[in-house]
Amino acid sequence: MQKRVYIETYGCQMNEHDSERILHLLERVHYLETENPKEADLILINTCSVREKPEHKVYSALGRFKRMKEERGTIIGVAGCVAQQEGDRLLDRIPYLDIVIGTHAIPKLPQLVEKIEVTGERVCETGFDQNGGYLKAVLPQKPLAKVKSYVTIMQGCDHFCSYCIVPYVRGSEKSRPSSEIIEEVKHLAGMGVREICLLGQNVNGYGRGSEKELSFPELLQRINEIDGIERIRFTTSHPKDLSEELIHSFSRLKKLCEHIHLPFQSGSDRILKAMHRGYTKESYLEKIKRLKEACPSIALTADAIVGFPGEEEEDFNETLDLMKRVQFDDLFSFKYSPRRGTSAAQFPDKVEEKVKQDRLLILQELQKRITLQKNQALEGRVEEVLVEGRSKQNAQEVTGRTRSNKIVNFEGDIRLIGKLVPIRIVKGYAHSLRGEIVSVTIRDGGNPSP
Ligand code: 5AD
Ligand code: SF4
Repeated sequence: MQKRVYIETYGCQMNEHDSERILHLLERVHYLETENPKEADLILINTCSVREKPEHKVYSALGRFKRMKEERGTIIGVAGCVAQQEGDRLLDRIPYLDIVIGTHAIPKLPQLVEKIEVTGERVCETGFDQNGGYLKAVLPQKPLAKVKSYVTIMQGCDHFCSYCIVPYVRGSEKSRPSSEIIEEVKHLAGMGVREICLLGQNVNGYGRGSEKELSFPELLQRINEIDGIERIRFTTSHPKDLSEELIHSFSRLKKLCEHIHLPFQSGSDRILKAMHRGYTKESYLEKIKRLKEACPSIALTADAIVGFPGEEEEDFNETLDLMKRVQFDDLFSFKYSPRRGTSAAQFPDKVEEKVKQDRLLILQELQKRITLQKNQALEGRVEEVLVEGRSKQNAQEVTGRTRSNKIVNFEGDIRLIGKLVPIRIVKGYAHSLRGEIVSVTIRDGGNPSP
């Protein structure tokens, strides 16, 4: 019998990708996705605790779904970081919750759901799997209605930055065998995927601790050789692990897109030290200089935190100075928020909420100006755009991304989806670009277009 699953996802790309894997896994036990929780037989909340006060969100989401449990007997589960962290406590607090499934237990989900369907027993699975079995691919069996896909290459983190919950909820750093990754990318290429984004908390630490494994630049090289794949991206990188060899990959590998996301978190050496980041402002700037030398057109994005404990006005000014010197294409900025169990949660000299808020606004204003200038500087230029889908705002338009990962909207037919199209940029906005088609030389993974 066909059943329906509704899944609500919070947080990062890793979580979005986990939700996709969950959906593919549940297909095996006859669950199809629905966008309407009211018609679902199974509701899952895939949570993230990296930056938010996650408990609030989870409890309010669960409150919304309580009625469905009462009316239809819907099975309700919580997955992801909050599940990992809270475990049995969630089951104790929420009497109508059936499943708590941690970050390493996802592959067990189909059998757990089948068991609950029969026995009605409530389950909590939050053990860490030391063998990396949780990283095994869940391959889609049908062609995908999407042109880009994530592929997890490693998970977990051993860096223990003092503010960060990830090492506690995702476990220690673990890389997948390169042979499996390559197989997965080939499979996805066969299913119509044109762009691959390699995922991990520290992708450039890939293969660490395993002599026999490929290095990250070697892995990129091998993926670069796979037919059908047109573009390769990766996220996230740690500045400390950014090697010369990786920097060179940007000029050597044709399919590797000219964009790197390289979080700096703070421009103050004092704060970087308290964060345990393992680099200084100058050494970060030196890496950026090398990237720009090796690949002058490279687009740069990053993450930054304001209001870390002990951050003074002068520390914050160092952050603004770093931003002015690098000129990021975009920046994701956050107010520091203490995470239970991390070392920074115990640090004195908390920054007042109002100060954090003011600093965030100043930083975001500065970045808005820089992003707009950068986008306007593209006006008149021709960019290669991979068309991803119909534009949400206008049915006559399609949307895609440049190699530098900027969104471009332009008038065009949906038959262009999946194609690489040369587009002249006519207008740069704060969050996207407007373009127009300049020629009919459209590439389609090597085939001439119809
Ligand atoms: N408070 C605020 N921001 C955080 N990040 C991670 N932990 C915290 C925290 N406790 C941000 C960092 C990281 C991004 C994924 O989330 O900038 O790079
Ligand atoms: Fe968190 Fe630091 Fe690891 Fe990134 S490198 S996941 S910020 S501990």
